[in-house]
Amino acid sequence: MADVEALKKEAGIEACKFVRSGMKVGLGTGSTVKHTVIELGRLISEEGMEIVGVPTSLSTEKLAISVGIPLVELSDIDGLDIVIDGADEYNPDFQLIKGGGAALLREKIVAQESSKMIIVADERKRVNTLGAFPLPIEVTPFSHAATVRALSRLLDCRVNIRMAGDGPVFTDNGNMIADAHTGPNISNPEECESKILQIAGVVQVGLFNNMCDAVVLAGQNGVETILNPNGRLID
Ligand code: 5RP
Repeated sequence: MADVEALKKEAGIEACKFVRSGMKVGLGTGSTVKHTVIELGRLISEEGMEIVGVPTSLSTEKLAISVGIPLVELSDIDGLDIVIDGADEYNPDFQLIKGGGAALLREKIVAQESSKMIIVADERKRVNTLGAFPLPIEVTPFSHAATVRALSRLLDCRVNIRMAGDGPVFTDNGNMIADAHTGPNISNPEECESKILQIAGVVQVGLFNNMCDAVVLAGQNGVETILNPNGRLID
């Protein structure tokens, strides 16, 4: 495979074609969409594009500020025109696993408020059935071990609190991430999402169902934009 970093950059930049001056833009989190954020900054400073952004994480907020994207609070505006974000996996129905960067809660809130969602990815993210990538689930620190046990029983698989060195990873919202090692067998992501959300200690799950309108995918043969036939970019 061509250099993965180069593929990420190609996809990240190409996705900017969906952004027009005047738009309110959700800014995703991760090593692919970071190239989108940098390119949007360039379009603002060099080509006079006028947009405002809503970042999905503190790290994206920092990057967006550094490249000169004006930011607004989601609470202060009435929805977003578009969000561009990365994904850990997507399946043929354009259902996603996200949260590898622990930003899934803010990412889902921003996606929910957006009229369109574009995913930027390299070809390693395309799967037939979701779940080879451990499913990220944001959980409350309170009673997290009990929540992990409940998740493990529900999903019948190993579930681990995500660690960074000796301590747990804390999200931007002060919560923890439980990674569920389901294996590639999430054949009904909507049912899976809904069951997981019934557990009280769960804040949000990284299954993004019926949200993605297009994937800008970088592969060995260049970048292709794949439209979701059931998405909002189809007339
Ligand atoms: C962060 C995410 C990321 O978008 C996802 O992990 C993909 O990241 P990358 O582009 O670095 O592979 O969901 O919570």
